[in-house]
Amino acid sequence: MKALITGASRGIGEAYAYRFAQLGYDLILTGRAEDLLQEVALRISQQYPVEVETLTIELADDNDLERLTLKIREYEDLHVLVNNAGFGSGTYFREEDFDDVDRMIKVHVRAPLKLIHAALPGMTAKNGGIIINVSSLGGKTPFPKSSVYSATKSFIRIFSETLHLETRNSNIFVQTLCPGFTKTHFHSRLGKNGTHIEKNGFIRWMTPEQVVEISLNSLSKDKVICVPGFWNKLLWVTAGILPRRIYYRLVSGLDKKQIPQERKVKTTIASLSAGN
Ligand SMILES: NC(=O)c1ccc[n+]([C@@H]2O[C@H](COP(=O)([O-])OP(=O)(O)OC[C@H]3O[C@@H](n4cnc5c(N)ncnc54)[C@H](OP(=O)(O)O)[C@@H]3O)[C@@H](O)[C@H]2O)c1
Repeated sequence: MKALITGASRGIGEAYAYRFAQLGYDLILTGRAEDLLQEVALRISQQYPVEVETLTIELADDNDLERLTLKIREYEDLHVLVNNAGFGSGTYFREEDFDDVDRMIKVHVRAPLKLIHAALPGMTAKNGGIIINVSSLGGKTPFPKSSVYSATKSFIRIFSETLHLETRNSNIFVQTLCPGFTKTHFHSRLGKNGTHIEKNGFIRWMTPEQVVEISLNSLSKDKVICVPGFWNKLLWVTAGILPRRIYYRLVSGLDKKQIPQERKVKTTIASLSAGN
């Protein structure tokens, strides 16, 4: 049986690749950095008796995505699809280049949906499959400079829950993994080494291997939403129960660059109704 993992050239995707190879799956690994992808494939095939195919795919590119979709339809024994590829932003929405916004929506939303749509007929016919969509703790905790990131990660979580409801009478298992801070290339791509974040008492870093182990354990318990780590769970629950006003105040306080100013909502509304 085959497992297809997007964004497997490093980080969480690479950790999934190792784990599924260990479980005996033949792999189809996608990523953009061809050299890294080849290295991962070589190391895995030296360690485990599995076949590893690599595909260099830019998921924001329509032609590449179509190529991958056609491949998925061709595979007869695709049992696992992990939609893992993704990246962060770290910029206020007003300052973002809209092409980057578009790219993020394509990679985090359009690509996973298209790949799942292509994989489902085969999984349905065989009455078996595993779909893991990597979301984020950020999908539950909106934060300045992560508007599109949080929104797309929230989309994929809700979509995964709905897909679970649509497939729960079958042997197709859906999970949405919502990691917190994980030691990968993700943060250095944003120009951060993470150390300044490490000082925050609520933040607990995890390794990609820990995150993937918890994801697979959680899958075996048929849990749809997987939030790895105690502190991440605590943040998840807290963000869900805090009154929004308090949440906004706390989060705005962490955004040092925002200049606090008195907001005059009453005056503004009064002047609107006065026709000014
Ligand atoms: N690390 C964290 O703290 C954290 C927290 C919550 C959620 N996540 C989520 O976890 C997932 C994996 O991230 P990571 O932490 O493992 O980061 P990473 O080390 O930067 O790996 C990201 C992977 O996604 C691939 N990728 C990125 N943009 C792509 C694109 N446009 N087209 C195709 N592939 C693309 C990368 O490919 P190349 O390197 O080959 O370009 C790489 O293989 C992401 O969805 C991320 O949002 C991460």
